Amino acid sequence: MQCHQHSHSEQIELGLEAFNIRQDWSSYSAEDHGVWQTLYDRRMQHLEKHAAGAFLEGTKVIGLQRDRIPNLDEMNARLEPKTGWRAVPVKGFLEPKLFFESLARRRFPTTVTIRPATSLDYIPEPDIFHDVFGHVPLHAHPVFADFLQRFGQAAADAGDEHTEAFTRLFWFTVEFGLFRERTEMKVYGSGLISSHGDCLNALSDKCVKRRFTLRDVIAQPFAIDDLQPVLFAVESFGELFAAVEELARATRAPERRASRHSVQAAEPDWSTVRCKCGCSQTGGCANLV
Ligand SMILES: [Fe+2]
Repeated sequence: MQCHQHSHSEQIELGLEAFNIRQDWSSYSAEDHGVWQTLYDRRMQHLEKHAAGAFLEGTKVIGLQRDRIPNLDEMNARLEPKTGWRAVPVKGFLEPKLFFESLARRRFPTTVTIRPATSLDYIPEPDIFHDVFGHVPLHAHPVFADFLQRFGQAAADAGDEHTEAFTRLFWFTVEFGLFRERTEMKVYGSGLISSHGDCLNALSDKCVKRRFTLRDVIAQPFAIDDLQPVLFAVESFGELFAAVEELARATRAPERRASRHSVQAAEPDWSTVRCKCGCSQTGGCANLV
C-alpha cells in the first residue's frame, strides 16, 4: 500500500536509507587487513590466469590493493565517474525487491565486515572480500555495468511470480558466470572470483559448461551450498544485456509498465560498440570502448 505522503520512489529511498551505514575504515584491525591480504594473494595468483580480462582490468580501475581492505569512499571516487556505480555499505540483507531497486539505482549493497582468520575458506554469508573483490571490479566494465542496472530495474518491475527466474539469471551470471575468451574458459562470477574451491570446481571436468541462453538458465535449478555441477558461459557481456531485456519484456507487472520513469542509461546499440583491441567482438571484450 502506498503512503499518501510519499511517492513510490520516495518510499523506496526511505527503505534503502534504513539499511545504510558508514564504513568506519579506521576500525579495521591489523588482523582484518591481514585476512584481506591472505585472501587477495591466494586468489590473484590463480585469477591472473583464469579470470576474465574484464575482472583483471576492473581491479586496476577501482584501485584494489593487496595489503589493505578497500576504503569504499576512495574506491567509489574512481568507479563512479566511469560507470555511475557505487558500492554502498549496508547492515544486513536487503529483501529481494529492495536489493533489486538498489541495483536499478547503480548502488551495490556491500557488507563491510571481513571474515575471521579462523574461517578463511568458508563463510555462510558474504563479507567485504566477496562483495568488493568478487563483485565490484566488473562494475567498471561499461557493458556489465549497464546489464546489472537493467537487471535490477527489470527484477524490481516484475511480478512476484517471476522472482525465481531473476534469481536464477543472477546466480548463473553475476554469481557464477563463465566467460569464453577465444578458446579459453575464464571466470567472472563473484562466487568463482572470491572462492578458490568453487573456481577450481567450475574449471574442472566435474562441472558441465554449457553455452549461455536465457531459456536454459531460467530452467536450471541450483543449490547454494553445493559445488555447482552445471554452469553457463557467455562470449560477451552484450549477451547478458540482451537476455535481461528479453526477460524484462516477458515479466513486467502491468501496474509497473507506465509508472517507472527512467533511471537507466539509454540502451546502447551493441552492434555498433567495438573493442579498441581490434578483435571482432562486440559488447564483451575487456578492451571495449
Ligand atoms: Fe555475491
